[in-house]
Amino acid sequence: MKQDFNEISLQNEDIEIMLLLEAIFIKYGYDFRGYSQAHIKRRILRRKELLGLSSVLEMISRVLDDRSFFDTLMMDFSINVTEMFRDPGFYKQFRSEVVPILRTYPYLRIWHAGCSSGEEVYSMAILLKEENLYEKAQIYATDFNEDVLENAKEGILSIDALKEYTYNYQLSGGLSSFSDYYIAKYDSAIIEPSLKKKIIFADHNLVTDGVFGEMHVVLCRNVMIYFGKALQSKVTGLFYDSLCNGGFLCLGTKESLKFTEYEKYFECFSEEYKIYRKKFKA
Ligand SMILES: C[S@@+](CC[C@H](N)C(=O)[O-])C[C@H]1O[C@@H](n2cnc3c(N)ncnc32)[C@H](O)[C@@H]1O
Repeated sequence: MKQDFNEISLQNEDIEIMLLLEAIFIKYGYDFRGYSQAHIKRRILRRKELLGLSSVLEMISRVLDDRSFFDTLMMDFSINVTEMFRDPGFYKQFRSEVVPILRTYPYLRIWHAGCSSGEEVYSMAILLKEENLYEKAQIYATDFNEDVLENAKEGILSIDALKEYTYNYQLSGGLSSFSDYYIAKYDSAIIEPSLKKKIIFADHNLVTDGVFGEMHVVLCRNVMIYFGKALQSKVTGLFYDSLCNGGFLCLGTKESLKFTEYEKYFECFSEEYKIYRKKFKA
């Protein structure tokens, strides 16, 4: 008896998910095929349930006919959770160990890849300002989600989160008062405008777009955790090519270069906070 191709390992639902991702790529150019299967499956099935649909197949015709449904899936897949001074220990370490090295450079080029609504890049701007490095820095902040990028440009912080951000800032070794860096309005706070001066926000997709040249620091924190192994490797290659010799790559605390093909090209600068340094060529 002839067996179905892949009958043993793939359920129909998994095949439908692959077809949905293929349809999204062909129609809209966004490529989620290399993302972690577990992550994408979880998000798709949750959306299917919320809509009361009986199969993933129904989502394919819907996404092809309706741009706004694609936008919903885009939000589902991209996970935009972020905060000011996220993992305060990382900023503390960056300030004490990386900043003295950055001080020796005549100018600084820094890339925040997957910056979400901007909290990470504004945290770095504050740190650089306090260390008198801001004026010689050019910071690029990119994300593939245009909606969060718009929020990032506006620099609006949630009032509800200010207490937590203030605490994070203090733990991160902040030298001033966090309230110096925002202007509070009724139900929101806006980042102090001078912090935006050296930041260029841009739409950039890590899966399909190219390198940013001669970076001294690349931060890509809590982004590759949603990628499959092959895509993680491809994107790490993009960062390797974007960094100058001795440049720093900063990942999220749950991410690592350990056991990857790029491990040998980087020195592990901080195991705890996942700071890597591109080796100088011999
Ligand atoms: C969890 S947030 C992390 C934000 C910030 N780096 C932090 O650690 O707080 C992940 C961000 O990565 C972005 N992202 C996911 N896939 C991407 C891709 N292929 N290209 C660019 N950005 C991507 C998402 O839109 C989202 O804003």
